[in-house]
Amino acid sequence: MEQKSSIPHVLIFPYPAQGHINSMLKLAELLCLSGLHVTFINTEFNYSRLLRYTDAKSRFGRFPGFRFETISDGLPEDHPRSVGFLSLNDMFDQLKTVIKPAFREMVISDRLKSDVRNQITCIIADGILGFTIDVAEELGIPSIAFRTVSACCVYAYFCLPKLVENGDIPFKDEDMDRPVKSVPEMKSFLRCRDLPSFCRVKELNDRGLQFVETETFNSTRATAQILNTFEDLEGPVLNQLRSYWRNLYTIGPLHALLKSRKSTDSSQTVSSNGLWEEDRSCMAWLDLQPLKSVVYVSFGSLTMVNREQWLEFWYGLVNSGKRFLWVRRPDSFAVEEEECQIPAELVEGTRERGYMVEWAPQEEVLVHPAIGGFLTHSGWNSTLESMVAGVPMICWPHFADQQINSRYVSEVWKMGMDMKDKCDRSTVEKLVKDMMDDKREDLMRSTIRVSEKAKRSISEGGSSFRNFEALVDFIRKRV
Ligand code: UDX
Repeated sequence: MEQKSSIPHVLIFPYPAQGHINSMLKLAELLCLSGLHVTFINTEFNYSRLLRYTDAKSRFGRFPGFRFETISDGLPEDHPRSVGFLSLNDMFDQLKTVIKPAFREMVISDRLKSDVRNQITCIIADGILGFTIDVAEELGIPSIAFRTVSACCVYAYFCLPKLVENGDIPFKDEDMDRPVKSVPEMKSFLRCRDLPSFCRVKELNDRGLQFVETETFNSTRATAQILNTFEDLEGPVLNQLRSYWRNLYTIGPLHALLKSRKSTDSSQTVSSNGLWEEDRSCMAWLDLQPLKSVVYVSFGSLTMVNREQWLEFWYGLVNSGKRFLWVRRPDSFAVEEEECQIPAELVEGTRERGYMVEWAPQEEVLVHPAIGGFLTHSGWNSTLESMVAGVPMICWPHFADQQINSRYVSEVWKMGMDMKDKCDRSTVEKLVKDMMDDKREDLMRSTIRVSEKAKRSISEGGSSFRNFEALVDFIRKRV
């Protein structure tokens, strides 16, 4: 048996939002399966939701070296934490004033060490939590920055000084379609509207813009970096990133890597980390639908939709004549939920062809044989899940990396269509018909190609498979 003293103890700390927690918990599970000890920090608010809605406690309970820890985010219990930009701004304040000192105190103390586990030997924190690097330096241990977004987005962030210097940002509404020249790898297809949403500012001193720029350059101070992507997907951009980051490990798609590592195990292979209650009744509904006939509609964990947009999606989906499974997260309405009821003239079409849930087992939904397409907000986890499942996409990006992800989906990987900044009913109807019928053949050709590359990368000998082994080795050598 391996001596306790030689087993690394990794501290994992995600930014407190669904997309970040999800991928970092997958990494935690992979590290546990590789025999490492892991402490995973959640905010109290998110931890209680994770316990309420997932099997995380029993799933991780089988690893004696694993432990959940919590930190207060300092916000009142009824604060709408995951809703819209305002609350993200609130979170920025909490990070500085509450979370940062609490994190330092927790790590510097001996609290995380036990009879079973060493003191922390390595910190893997969200790449936008730069203060964790200071704590690692104080302790003299390695820090690894995990950016949960795409490489193309991170590269655009590294280009921010150049974008400002060349006058590409800020840009006016009428300049949205202007080509962007200051991001060398992307100048043939990037327009202002495709830049990450934080670039849509009036003033350069905008808080969100400053936050992403500061944190991106901060991440170069970490000992190593992790991205949930794969070499065959974002190779040229990854080459650029390697001029900023010394030790970059690309280990994605993480959900697929984890699934393949768990497939020899008798337990459930999909690790669900949702902060909402999954409504599994949609799986039985999908079982009754014809092959590749259903459009899955979900806008992730943060997107807010107003009444007009809901209605346009509704008309577009019903008028397309296609079947649809629609996730309507309870906190995604920018108005009272009653105002987003089914319009009378669409009740019939919705009943015949539609099914709605508040939160779905998305990974399982996307690989269901009945799913033919995905109308998505282009969150990075959703994009990777769709890629692996071989499902083409219609992209309606909301914020952050989603604007650039959707451009890559349509222009580079050619596995979908970018509906950015529009959602009128006729566009929705047309794109749904294109995805399911008129342009399906071409779309499927590239979708299957990307899907095969993704699966190759996580199979034995593939780049993400090897990089994950190298990452574990890196952590082991620094005990
Ligand atoms: C946002 C960003 O866009 C993302 O790129 C970034 O890394 C984190 O913040 P989010 O809105 O949460 O993320 O979207 P996404 O990254 O796609 O993650 C959503 C996750 O929730 C996916 O793993 C998806 O499978 C899951 N999900 C979503 C469900 O399990 N059920 C649902 O009904 C909807």
